Amino acid sequence: MAVREDRGGHPSSRLLNAETAGSALRLNPQQAASALVAGHLAILPTETVYGLAADARQPATVARVFQVKGRPTDHPVIVHVGSAAAIADWSANTPDVAWKLAETFWPGPLTIVVPAAASVSRVLTGGQDTIALRCPAQQQFLEVLDHMSRRQGLASAVAAPSANRFGQVSPTTAADALRGLRSRLSADDVVLDGGACQIGVESTVVDCTARPIRILRPGRIGRRQLAEVLGWDAVAAVGTGTSTTAADESEEQVRVPGTLPSHYAPITPVSVVDAATLSAYGRHPNTTDRVIGLIAPASVATPVGLHRIGSPANSRDYAHGLYSWFRRADDLGCSELLVALPLDPVDDPLADAVADRVRRATHPPTT
Ligand code: TXA
Ligand code: MG
Repeated sequence: MAVREDRGGHPSSRLLNAETAGSALRLNPQQAASALVAGHLAILPTETVYGLAADARQPATVARVFQVKGRPTDHPVIVHVGSAAAIADWSANTPDVAWKLAETFWPGPLTIVVPAAASVSRVLTGGQDTIALRCPAQQQFLEVLDHMSRRQGLASAVAAPSANRFGQVSPTTAADALRGLRSRLSADDVVLDGGACQIGVESTVVDCTARPIRILRPGRIGRRQLAEVLGWDAVAAVGTGTSTTAADESEEQVRVPGTLPSHYAPITPVSVVDAATLSAYGRHPNTTDRVIGLIAPASVATPVGLHRIGSPANSRDYAHGLYSWFRRADDLGCSELLVALPLDPVDDPLADAVADRVRRATHPPTT
């Protein structure tokens, strides 16, 4: 990766930590836009997690995203757009519910799955006839799209899965994204540093082609918020899938790779533990020569012998810290990571999203 100096700099961009990032790039949104228009990849910040972006109208560049991530080509990516109006560029016969959701929640952490227009490259859709669209609420990201649009003379869009190797933990800082991908990136690919992502877990994905619509991946926008716009009957209860056979289930998993059982997983084996069990430990039994990490709500005390890695005060803190704590457990060489889920997560979409990601990180996954 080349070192480029940007002495003017974007006000909110900052030099990556040289120790973790090595020959880091110091870019502003305009430079990131130039790289994308020229057919290179860009690691970009969003409000959820960092994305590995390519110009969505350059299928050969999008194909590189799949290579760099090690992602199977039949797993679709999200196309990020600058406004709800851009839905018309990518989707045909778009259901009214999709327009309503985009107009209400964009920019924001909601991805809508809609019928793809015939002209859309099937590289983006993993060969399917639906496409996932989202407008992120991250100022620098939106500026990148804006600069691209000015150069390209149309409403630009970028395809951007999370900026991690397939199956691994999504990055919430530019340094974490670079650490996982830098050996696979090319000299002209770039990184835009927007600091730590505000939310910390991926967007809610909603299938707007189903009736009622279905939440495919929980995120900060939950069923209640969707129902406030569309009515309760229009939004399926979470977990009420239509699949009835094993074949249907595996088909479902290909459609939604973020829902594969072992996704979002650190190297350290993760186990879910309940807060009452933790409180019952005087000293954790197995800690003589091993480091066992613990993530638990702040109100839960650390049993003697466990190494506390995360103490979130609420589900917002929990989502914000989760992936960096997973990485910390790996960095510390923990032999195991115990995780107590958010307490009393009543009607709390972020608590549901945290529980979903933690369960998918467990070996074997808990349901
Ligand atoms: O927060 C996010 O959504 C982040 C940031 C970078 O925007 N992106 C992200 O992308 O998490 P990715 O590729 O890691 O996850 C995309 C999710 C997957 O679960 C995928 O299966 C689903 O969106 N998806 C994409 N296209 C789809 C489609 N046509 N039908 C069903 N699910 C789709
Ligand atoms: Mg991902």
